[in-house]
Amino acid sequence: MRDQAEALRIKLLEQQGQLGKAVAIVSGKGGVGKSNFCMNFALQLAQQQKKVVIIDMDIGMGNIHILIGESASYNLGDYLKGERSLEEVVFSAPYGMDYIAGGSGMSSVLEWTDSMFERLILAFDELLKRYDYLLFDMGAGATTWSLDLLMSIDDIIVITTAEPTAITDAYSMMKYIHLKDDAKQYYLICNRVLAKQEGEETTSRLKLAMQRFLEKDIRVLGTMPEDLVVRQAVREQVPFSVSSPNAAVTKALRLIVLRFLEEPQIEVAQQPTTFLRKLRNIFSKGRD
Ligand SMILES: Nc1ncnc2c1ncn2[C@@H]1O[C@H](COP(=O)(O)OP(=O)(O)O)[C@@H](O)[C@H]1O
Ligand SMILES: [Mg+2]
Repeated sequence: MRDQAEALRIKLLEQQGQLGKAVAIVSGKGGVGKSNFCMNFALQLAQQQKKVVIIDMDIGMGNIHILIGESASYNLGDYLKGERSLEEVVFSAPYGMDYIAGGSGMSSVLEWTDSMFERLILAFDELLKRYDYLLFDMGAGATTWSLDLLMSIDDIIVITTAEPTAITDAYSMMKYIHLKDDAKQYYLICNRVLAKQEGEETTSRLKLAMQRFLEKDIRVLGTMPEDLVVRQAVREQVPFSVSSPNAAVTKALRLIVLRFLEEPQIEVAQQPTTFLRKLRNIFSKGRD
């Protein structure tokens, strides 16, 4: 029954040309709250009737599965090597989101076999049909292949804090990506702010710098406060938006989600093909 419904859904989506959208969550500096944001953002999107899968590219601390107190048996690497099916690596996490653990120790795509590369394209093609959003939690200790992957994703959510080092690192990160591809769309969030004004100053400084020095317009999604419930949620291994639906940080997140969904979505119909095309281009460079 479920399979039939799913098959129908895919057919309908294909007919309407409405495939999912790939979104990367990045930061310059580590520990700014990417994984916690990514997971709770996914859950809030799910509450807005969106189907979301998180692809965890962070192979260091704070993996998504640890944040929800689950263990991931298999990862994307197992699928790419042909040892597991896509179904086996997509984990249906509690609270209404799906999740794929990133392959640890994955090297540069130039060292991949052709079949790994083909399987990657196949997987993303399939996921774009099944989900509205593919959220890539990029992790600070970015492996070479996750940077390659990042270049094929057009929508990038940048998380910073109001600390000067985080701000300059966020700018450097956007500049680095922009110089390789100037057509990307950046969405900016300032997390862990002690006062709203502090966050707004941070986001407008970054927006201004991007405009002035790179002539690039970025979109500010908002700020999220420093809130004790986040640390508590991490300790209890329950997403903060689930354990504390009325906390200040959850309210701020909900506003961010609404703002994100309000963004002009004109290119959505073309975007998945852009994603797959870019993926092919980037990943096949130097391979043949
Ligand atoms: N809004 C917040 N308020 C309070 N603490 C936060 C907030 N966001 C993140 N944190 C803290 O920062 C830590 C790192 O968050 P995490 O999402 O793992 O960051 P990243 O993925 O960027 O490395 C969390 O364990 C939590 O203690
Ligand atoms: Mg993380």
